[in-house]
Amino acid sequence: CGIVGYVGSQPALDVVIEGLSRLEYRGYDSAGTAISADGKLTVTKRAGKLANLREALAGTVPPGGEEAGSAGRTDAGGSGERTETGVSGIGHTRWATHGPPNDRNAHPHTDCTGAVAVVHNGIIENFAALRLELERRGHELSSDTDTEAVAHLLEEEVAKGASLADAMRRVCLRLEGAFTLVAVYSGEPDLVVGARRNSPLVVGVGAGENFLASDVAAFIAHTRDAIELGQDQVVELRPSGVTVTGFDGRPAEVKEYHVDWDVSAAEKGGHDYFMLKEIAEQPRAVAETLLGRIGTDGRLSLDEMRLTDDELRDIDKIIIVACGTAYHAGLIAKYAIEHWTQLPCEVELASEFRYRDPILTRSTLVIAISQSGETMDTLMAVRHAREQRASVLGICNVNGSTIPRECDGVLYTHAGPEIAVASTKAFLTQLVAVYLIALYLAQVRGTKWGDEVFAMIQLLGTMPQKVEQVLETVEPVRELARSLAGERCVLFLGRHVGFPVALEGALKLKELAYMHAEGFAAGELKHGPIALIEQNLPVVVIVPSRARPILHDKIVSNIQEIRARGARTIVIAEDGDDAVVPYADTLIRVPAVPTLLQPLVATVPLQVFACELATARGHDVDQPRNLAKSVTVE
Ligand code: G6P
Repeated sequence: CGIVGYVGSQPALDVVIEGLSRLEYRGYDSAGTAISADGKLTVTKRAGKLANLREALAGTVPPGGEEAGSAGRTDAGGSGERTETGVSGIGHTRWATHGPPNDRNAHPHTDCTGAVAVVHNGIIENFAALRLELERRGHELSSDTDTEAVAHLLEEEVAKGASLADAMRRVCLRLEGAFTLVAVYSGEPDLVVGARRNSPLVVGVGAGENFLASDVAAFIAHTRDAIELGQDQVVELRPSGVTVTGFDGRPAEVKEYHVDWDVSAAEKGGHDYFMLKEIAEQPRAVAETLLGRIGTDGRLSLDEMRLTDDELRDIDKIIIVACGTAYHAGLIAKYAIEHWTQLPCEVELASEFRYRDPILTRSTLVIAISQSGETMDTLMAVRHAREQRASVLGICNVNGSTIPRECDGVLYTHAGPEIAVASTKAFLTQLVAVYLIALYLAQVRGTKWGDEVFAMIQLLGTMPQKVEQVLETVEPVRELARSLAGERCVLFLGRHVGFPVALEGALKLKELAYMHAEGFAAGELKHGPIALIEQNLPVVVIVPSRARPILHDKIVSNIQEIRARGARTIVIAEDGDDAVVPYADTLIRVPAVPTLLQPLVATVPLQVFACELATARGHDVDQPRNLAKSVTVE
C-alpha cells in the first residue's frame, strides 16, 4: 500500500492526491483521503484506481451504492460541506489484505466519532482479538479490516485525554505484526502522526511544511531532504518541525539524507507507460550500476559492500533469497557464482526460506536481492539468516530502505526509481550486481578461471552498448507480439542461464497479459511438458551462445523436436548463429556475448514482447490486476 501525510500551508488535499498518484504503483485496489480543517475531518474514499477517488472529490460521482454515507464521504463535527484545502491530510492507496477492495474497506478508517482517521500499510496480526474487545466495549466497526481497530483504539486514548502522539505510542504497544500507521485528529488540526514497525515510512523535510510517505517519490516534487524512520518509532509532523520518538516516548536520533534524483525520474518522460520508459532506460541503468566499480587496472573495487576481504575469503557457501523477478536474477547468479568462484550456491524463494530450517553457519553468505528493499518475505529471510549468524549481503535499488539497513553489507543497483509494477531495469541491474559480486569474490579469493575473470570484467563494461543494440532492433518483436494477442498460451524454453530467462519471460507474460505462460528447462521438455505442444502453439526458445557447443547443439535439437510436433517456434539467438535458421518460424537476434552474460541481452526482447502483447490486449502494463510493486506483507 502507499501512504501519504502532509502538514503545511499548501492545500493539503492537492498535496496528498499528488503524492498518492506517485505511489499508486504500490497498490490500486482502492484509494482515500482524510483532510483536517476547522475542527473537522473530511474522509473520502473509493474502490478502484485513484481516478475514481479524483472523480468523487471533483463531485462528479455520488458515493456508490450501499456504502453511500457510511463510506463514500463523511464529515465529522462540521456542516457536511466539502473541505478542499485544510492544513493537514493523509491519503492511502491500497493493495487489499483484509476484506475485499470495496469503498467500505478503503482507507482511511475512522472511529465512532469520526474525529480520528487512520491509514495503514501491513497486517495487524492480533486484529481479531482487538476487534472483539472493542465490540465488547460498545464500538461499532463498519469495515472488515484490521486497520479500523486502530482508529477505535486511538479514539479511546484520545477520549482519556491523551494527545494523538501519546495515543499512537500506547496503541502501537498493543499491536502485533508489521505496520505503518498515519493518523490525523480533528482536535489537533496542524498535526500528522506516523508510526513504523517493519513497513516503510519516510519523512520529507520542507520549509514550513513536512511530508510523510511510504516512498520519497510521493514528495520529491516538494523536497529532496528526507529522514529515515527506524523500527518502532513514532513521528509527529507539524508545519514547524518533526519530532521522532520510540514507542516508549524516548526521543530518537534521526538520520537526514538528501535524495539524489529529482522529480523527472519519477515521471513518464513522454512515454505512454512507465514500463516503456524503464525498458528504454536500461542501457543507462546498467552503465550507472557499473560506474566506479571497474578500476583503470581492470580490477573490481567493491569496498562499499562493507564486507572485508577476509570475511569474503572465509565464506564456504552462498545462499540467495529473493522473490518474483529478483528470484530469477538469483537463479542466474548461481551459474555465475559457482562457475567463477567454485563456491556452492543455493537459491531459494524468500517466502520458503525460514520455514525449512536452512543450514547456516558463520561462513555462509546469504545474498538478499530486492529492488524495493522492503519485500516482507525477503526481509524475514534476512532476519532469519542473521539470527543464525550468517553474514547477509543485500542487493537493493532503494537507498536507505529496510533490507539494506538490516544487512551486514549492501551493493546498491543504480537503476533509478522503478515505478511500473513489472520489474525491467531493476532486473538487469540486479544481474550486473550479481556478476560484479561473483567476479569480485573470484578476484579476492583466487580462482582457476583467473584470465576469464579479468576478461569478463572488461566485457561487463561493454554491456550498456549491447543492451542498447537490442533496443534498436526490437521493432519486429513488437509486431510479433501484436500478432499473438489472441493466443491463450505461450511456452518459454531455455538451458543453463537461458532457463531462468525463460522463467522471467513467462512471468512477465502472466503479470502483464494475464496469459497462461510457462518457462521450462529445455532438457526437461521430454519428461512431461512436450505433451503440451500442439499445432501452432507459440514456443519461445532462448538459444545459448555458440561458444558453448554442448549447450547450443542440444537446444537446436530441442527446437526440432517441438517443431516436428507442430509448435510455432520463436527463436532468440545471437548474431551469426545460422544453425537455428531452418527451424525458426520467427528469429529474434541479440548481440553475441559470453553465455553467462547472455541474460542481459536475451531478457530485453521478452520484456518488450510481454509489454506489447499486454497493451494489444488492452491492459494497463504499469498497474496489472491484483499485483503491487512492493509487497510489505508476508
Ligand atoms: C512484487 C512485484 C514483483 C517483484 C517482487 C519482488 O511481487 O510485483 O515484480 O519482482 O515483488 O520485489 P523486490 O522489490 O523485492 O525486488
